[in-house]
Amino acid sequence: MTILVTGGAGFIGTNFIFDLLSESRELVVNLDKLTYAGNRHNLTKLTDQEHRLVEGDIGDRELVDKILNDYAPTHVVNFAAESHVDRSIHGPRDFVDTNVLGTFNLLESVRAYFDKLSSEKKEKFRFLHVSTDEVYGSLGPGDPPFTENSPYAPNSPYSASKAASDHFVRAYHHTYGLNVLTTNCSNNYGPYQFPEKLIPLMILNALAFKPLPVYGDGLQIRDWLHVSDHTRAIKLVLKKGEIGQTYNIGGQAELANITVVKTICEVLDSLVPDPQGRRRSSLITYVKDRPGHDRRYAIDPGKIFDKLGFEPLRKFEEGLTETVKWYLNNGAWVQNVQSGEYRRWIDKQYGQN
Ligand code: NAD
Ligand code: TYD
Repeated sequence: MTILVTGGAGFIGTNFIFDLLSESRELVVNLDKLTYAGNRHNLTKLTDQEHRLVEGDIGDRELVDKILNDYAPTHVVNFAAESHVDRSIHGPRDFVDTNVLGTFNLLESVRAYFDKLSSEKKEKFRFLHVSTDEVYGSLGPGDPPFTENSPYAPNSPYSASKAASDHFVRAYHHTYGLNVLTTNCSNNYGPYQFPEKLIPLMILNALAFKPLPVYGDGLQIRDWLHVSDHTRAIKLVLKKGEIGQTYNIGGQAELANITVVKTICEVLDSLVPDPQGRRRSSLITYVKDRPGHDRRYAIDPGKIFDKLGFEPLRKFEEGLTETVKWYLNNGAWVQNVQSGEYRRWIDKQYGQN
């Protein structure tokens, strides 16, 4: 069996490929554009029988057609995306190009491929689109969490582009009968996350005794899920999900940003105490809020719990401690990604604060 993964050199894609190959003998073909967020070194320990990296764009029709024809995958899992809200505020164009037009192109190519499959192969084929809870917009403090029936109300260019891609995926099932599945997951954390996102940024800044930039009042709420729970849920949806359905995935771990940052400080203070006795929480610096900042996300994971028997396994504090240790033990990976491009982003985003 061959599976085409797009965006597999990024954070969740890398974790998904390792997870998949830890228990099966499939060949993973990984189509990745290797943007600033993609890292070819993540997967170099895999053999050629397990993993082939194809550097390219999901928006390149000729290339996607060729991959589908050459490798004849039974499953396609689409992780490829521009994924950072703050970058989408500075430059939304790339988000439209990859998340909307790229996904559209991928769907077109997959539709042509699917149409030519035998009925037996069609039955087994799945296109799984990995999306976010951010498509549902922002919740008030007493609002019930998002279900699969919550109306779409995206607020950032990132979430608007993901919402558009979700709609195309849905339409390709309803109109063309493509075997699609969609997952909408809450905020992930864990190994290999690019340190522009909240948790790895705070870990690395706190380790280096740099300021910890908390947007606004720090009371915005996110639901956090360890990436290994997300990849397990995706495997489950691929295996048992009902074609055409969407599944919300969450950790039932709603936390205010400031609580997350303070917990990171405590974990680091205990793992790597400062010889001068400084507390990392003294580095917390409140900075200008993100424009249009969503106040609260929360997921009702009832459907995936009840229908597919999913349950997150990692508790937040335990997962966070492991994640901090991963960043402490992988200094070479960190150094490699904190390259010129990373420094330019940090200057652009935080320089004026
Ligand atoms: P990431 O930014 O770490 O990785 C994205 C990967 O896609 C990178 O390897 C990048 O090189 C690649 N890519 C970008 N544009 C491409 C293109 N045009 N063609 C081919 N490859 C391209 O993102 P992530 O955090 O791993 O997220 C993966 C997916 O999961 C995204 O679709 C994101 O919207 C979704 N998601 C993420 C989270 C989260 O908390 N990180 C939560 C829910 C859903
Ligand atoms: P982020 O990791 O960018 O994920 P998302 O915006 O997709 O939820 O941010 C998580 C939360 O942390 C979000 O409310 C914004 C906030 N945040 C900060 O307060 N400071 C920062 O430097 C970053 C990157 C995020």
